Amino acid sequence: MSGQPPLSGAPSDDAAAIGLPHPRDLAELLGVQRHACNSIGSALYARVLDLCIVRVDRDGPIRDLLLPHEHDPFGSALALRFLGAVHRIVLEGRAPELAAHYPSAGGTPGPTMEQDFEATVHAHVDELARRIDDGVQTNEVGRSASLAGPLLELARQGRPLRLLEVGSSAGLNLRWDHYRYEAGGRSFGAPDAPVRFVDPWVGAAPDISGPVEIAERQGCDRSPIDATTDEGRLTLRSFVWPDLTERFRRLDGAIEVAKAVPAVVDRADAPEWVAAQLARPVAGCTTVVMHSIVLQYLSKEGRRALTGALAEAGRRAAEDAPVAWLRMEPGRDGAEVRLTSWPGGEERLMAISGYHGPPIRWVG
Ligand SMILES: C[S@@+](CC[C@H](N)C(=O)[O-])C[C@H]1O[C@@H](n2cnc3c(N)ncnc32)[C@H](O)[C@@H]1O
Repeated sequence: MSGQPPLSGAPSDDAAAIGLPHPRDLAELLGVQRHACNSIGSALYARVLDLCIVRVDRDGPIRDLLLPHEHDPFGSALALRFLGAVHRIVLEGRAPELAAHYPSAGGTPGPTMEQDFEATVHAHVDELARRIDDGVQTNEVGRSASLAGPLLELARQGRPLRLLEVGSSAGLNLRWDHYRYEAGGRSFGAPDAPVRFVDPWVGAAPDISGPVEIAERQGCDRSPIDATTDEGRLTLRSFVWPDLTERFRRLDGAIEVAKAVPAVVDRADAPEWVAAQLARPVAGCTTVVMHSIVLQYLSKEGRRALTGALAEAGRRAAEDAPVAWLRMEPGRDGAEVRLTSWPGGEERLMAISGYHGPPIRWVG
């Protein structure tokens, strides 16, 4: 498919319905993101967001950029759109003073970081005003570890997997079987895989034995990224939090895998694409519709259309053409990994995971 597809409406405006917070104003919204960054280990973004929380109440470039978006749906992740746009400028070498604080650019956070952040925003305000409208394009490889347990379970049922991922970004999680997983002396994946997860599960671990056969590896995204290009790599890196170096390592490894393992990511709107794919049942395969941290970017109608297409495919599923719906989406205590399988429509909570993957509590 080509061209910009029609979107399934604005990102979700009923945040509570999908387990997201609903802050009252911009400062509170930034505070929620600050808390999330801090708790996931990005002290750097916590500091930057502390600055933004103060600045949105005063005249200046940060307020000018963020205030017009005060009423954007929470799920559109305004703070991450803004921080990603600034990070991109840093990674391109166009903000050397701020780069000196960003580990992703070889720096170390120093005492003048806030001042340098604000100066960078001031210097690039027009560009940032444009880029802030772009959606968040985090393709988090750590989520492969959250999805691997259920995917391996489906693969062990003996049929090849037909993977259909919506909101696939660069399709890095479509190559999950080319990464290595290790748990308590057991492992899945090549020992020299460029992406390696060591004990990503806390407590019980899933059965991570194979074999795995992949029949199809396809995804869709409203704005797909080609991870094998410099531009694609830059975009992907810009949405990784600058001081979370392990995530950069994984991303680089996954890009290496992407160069060797093809996966098609169509430019398409999720519900429409899923309906079209599922209209073509494939006998002898398990069709797996999967997504991670995507529902918040769809409208209420878009989510309804997506689940409607899945329910319809579930009704048509047969013993030799089963359908599974695997998703990792926000829950109460982290991201919930759920699996629904047809025929039958049984739904299971498989894991509670960090938003970027490990640590994962397996409950499957
Ligand atoms: C936060 S990213 C998650 C990407 C990937 N699923 C992952 O876990 O790494 C959300 C992705 O959903 C895509 N997206 C948002 N709305 C969409 C829509 N209506 N149809 C298809 N993709 C969409 C975005 O472009 C983005 O790549």
